[in-house]
Amino acid sequence: MNETDLQAPDAEIRDVAVIGAGLLGSQIAALTAASRRPVRLYDVAEDAAAGAVERLRTMLTPVIDRGALDWDLESVLGRITPKPSLSEAVSGVDLVVEAVREHLPTKRDVFAEISRLNPTALLASNSSSIPSSALADVVADPARLVNLHFFSEFWQRSMVEVMGCGQTSEATVATMAAFGRSLGLVTAVVHGESKGFIINRVWRAVKREALRVVDEGHAAPEDVDRLWALFFGTTIGPFGIMDEIGLDVIADIEESYIAVATDPADRTSPTLRRLVAAGQLGRKTGQGFYHYPGTKDSVLSPED
Ligand SMILES: NC(=O)c1ccc[n+]([C@@H]2O[C@H](COP(=O)([O-])OP(=O)(O)OC[C@H]3O[C@@H](n4cnc5c(N)ncnc54)[C@H](O)[C@@H]3O)[C@@H](O)[C@H]2O)c1
Repeated sequence: MNETDLQAPDAEIRDVAVIGAGLLGSQIAALTAASRRPVRLYDVAEDAAAGAVERLRTMLTPVIDRGALDWDLESVLGRITPKPSLSEAVSGVDLVVEAVREHLPTKRDVFAEISRLNPTALLASNSSSIPSSALADVVADPARLVNLHFFSEFWQRSMVEVMGCGQTSEATVATMAAFGRSLGLVTAVVHGESKGFIINRVWRAVKREALRVVDEGHAAPEDVDRLWALFFGTTIGPFGIMDEIGLDVIADIEESYIAVATDPADRTSPTLRRLVAAGQLGRKTGQGFYHYPGTKDSVLSPED
């Protein structure tokens, strides 16, 4: 990815605030700054925004060194300004992107406050599971509200999904899609309101079926992954990916889908439940579907 060059200094979205300086907020701030826009970054945790800039330097330096990003990192980071208060972050900006913790009451409070401080800004939530319709009643103008769903490690997942809240104007959707493209991201507009973003739903179907095959005793996880890897030309399969993400995270996501499922066969996987209960959460704990004595690179390693 190249640093993108905004053609017009007065492009519709110029000044951007990112609220929440965690894993996603910091990456969204960096991506936006790489499009030569000034970015204000705010987090409720003291020093988190300043710390995020340091973490970005550590995270992105090796990515740039191996050529996956063609960025002048110091110029990009120099466009990110940590702000000590929400009001200083959002007043006067064209767009506010929210990336705070995945907790509906927190997000509703944050959106109500942002909207009060800057009633004319475009508003976007990066939430993975909370639709913007659940935030629409607390903002001044729901016509200017969307979900804008980014992905972690944007240099390899260079994509974003835009989903309206049911009252979002067509102009807002078009502006947000143009914003996504201006960041150099493949930008998809989700029509209507979907339970889950598009790629997450497709990925969920893969996880559910892979887990069922194992739950029913038809195959071991490593065989599913080997078949998958050969069939699709990848070096990792669904179980390896789940281990990377963390099985506690996977279980929470499964539960959020199961809570609204209409198919009675859509139940929590006993295998997944057992591993989570045993604290075997994937690579981060050294054991999940696979064992990680050191690092595990490929399901197609020679000793397989
Ligand atoms: N982690 C992912 O891969 C991923 C992918 C896509 C979307 N998301 C979404 O992005 C959002 C953030 O996820 P994350 O992984 O960055 O979480 P995270 O825990 O790394 O960061 C969340 C940040 O929000 C801050 N915060 C909490 N309450 C706040 C408030 N009231 N005001 C300002 N800041 C506040 C926290 O201090 C923390 O720094 C979530 O909605 C999540 O669904 C995450």
